[in-house]
Amino acid sequence: MVAAVLPLALPLALTLPPCADCHPRQYQEWAASAHAASAASPLYRAMRQWAYADAGEAVAARCADCHTVPTASGERSAAVECGACHQLAAGAGPDTLLIDPDRPVLAPRTSGDAPHPVAVSAAIAADAPCLPCHGQLSNPAGVPLCTTGPEAAARTAGAACIACHRPHTFAGAAAAGLHRAATVSLDRRGEILRATVLARGVGHALPTGPSLRQVRLEVEILDRRGYRLFDNRSDPSALFARLLADPAGNVPAPPWRAVAVAQDTRLAAGERRTFDYPLPAGAWSAEARLVYHRAPPPLLHRLALAQEASLAPRVIARARLSLVD
Ligand code: HEC
Ligand code: HEC
Ligand code: HEC
Ligand code: HEC
Ligand code: HEC
Repeated sequence: MVAAVLPLALPLALTLPPCADCHPRQYQEWAASAHAASAASPLYRAMRQWAYADAGEAVAARCADCHTVPTASGERSAAVECGACHQLAAGAGPDTLLIDPDRPVLAPRTSGDAPHPVAVSAAIAADAPCLPCHGQLSNPAGVPLCTTGPEAAARTAGAACIACHRPHTFAGAAAAGLHRAATVSLDRRGEILRATVLARGVGHALPTGPSLRQVRLEVEILDRRGYRLFDNRSDPSALFARLLADPAGNVPAPPWRAVAVAQDTRLAAGERRTFDYPLPAGAWSAEARLVYHRAPPPLLHRLALAQEASLAPRVIARARLSLVD
């Protein structure tokens, strides 16, 4: 696999201890969240190492733009720290995110009890602090890699990110988030088994985020002894994913090599999609599962992460149907 070794990260800024000392509840919730592991997650480290070996230092350096945050003193944060939302430097826009520890702390409202300066702004409770990193990311070839922002803008209800992602856990792909995301149901229409998937609890596409994420609808039809008569593994439409293609047409391609989106079959927020399968003779019962993959299994294998528990596939929703009266 990858041979070259990535140079060590830049010096890490410690904006955290001062905040953590006085806000232990927010700190503990944050410390258990994906934001705290943004530069340490095994998948991120392996992908960044691969980007470095495959495409060079300039490409790998870009990863740090969102997985860590530059500070006014020229260091980088170790993760998506408190300051990434609460202490953005004046003029920081999508491409110039900068933590300034000397800035007043941004808050949606003030208690008047803080020993530090507080700047009150409703913007922090809207989507604004999230979009520099979660908005839209394209590679230099113009291929969209992450489009959570535009997906959310297209939704009709107009809820802010934190209406569903409570600070400071921001649970998304954690179990609590996934189980809210979608439902699956089964019903029989004559000699047809119909599976219906409804992305009812997301504010953006399912899955959203990097093109690594995949959700698959698994359907099985069993006979009376529990033997499998049919499964839908060969149905390409049952995979919800954005797959990228490289110049040679290989799919899926890593984001830095991609020149096109080969397919985007993800579910839009609120979308209902149905899948019809003919019932084989002897059909007795059916089962459907909606399964979330943090990354495609062949990629995890390639990166030697197949045994990593935090990356194991997870069932979002399931349904069963008896086919005999
Ligand atoms: C990803 C963005 C983000 C990060 C990172 C973040 N916060 Fe917040 N924080 C928010 C938002 C948004 C609110 C406002 C929530 C609301 O409207 O009630 C908030 C509110 C707060 C409040 C007000 C009380 C409360 O809980 O609502 C405190 C205190 C706070 N944050 C401390 C911290 C500390 C300490 C850290 C680091 C350990 C941190 N925050 C990291 C986004 C963030
Ligand atoms: C010396 C203790 C201390 C430190 C250090 C500290 N805070 Fe606070 N902060 C408080 C107190 C006390 C309040 C009043 C509300 C409360 O009790 O939670 C507060 C309030 C807040 C609020 C809500 C606004 C308000 O006026 O009530 C936010 C947001 C916040 N702090 C974020 C942070 C962040 C981010 C950091 C690190 C950059 C930080 N604080 C560092 C003690 C501290
Ligand atoms: C400085 C960049 C940055 C900012 C600002 C930011 N995020 Fe994130 N966020 C990340 C990164 C990087 C990850 C991925 C961490 C990982 O999976 O290792 C992430 C992960 C998440 C996740 C997935 C959590 C999970 O359990 O899988 C959610 C949800 C999320 N962010 C919501 C938000 C919201 C809401 C805001 C605004 C209040 C916000 N983020 C602000 C960079 C950021
Ligand atoms: C209506 C509720 C809702 C709203 C609003 C919402 N989300 Fe989500 N989000 C979810 C659910 C449910 C999941 C878990 C399913 C999934 O991974 O897509 C999720 C997952 C995520 C993830 C993790 C994706 C992954 O697979 O790693 C991120 C990042 C995220 N949301 C960011 C955002 C941002 C940024 C906003 C605002 C622009 C936002 N969300 C608004 C419900 C919502
Ligand atoms: C514009 C901001 C941005 C840049 C630049 C960026 N990422 Fe990300 N990345 C994110 C966000 C936001 C998430 C989390 C989204 C989610 O969980 O849905 C994420 C998530 C990931 C994940 C999933 C982590 C996990 O634990 O599941 C990997 C892997 C990843 N990024 C690799 C990279 C690599 C490699 C690069 C550089 C080639 C890179 N990223 C550049 C914003 C960025």
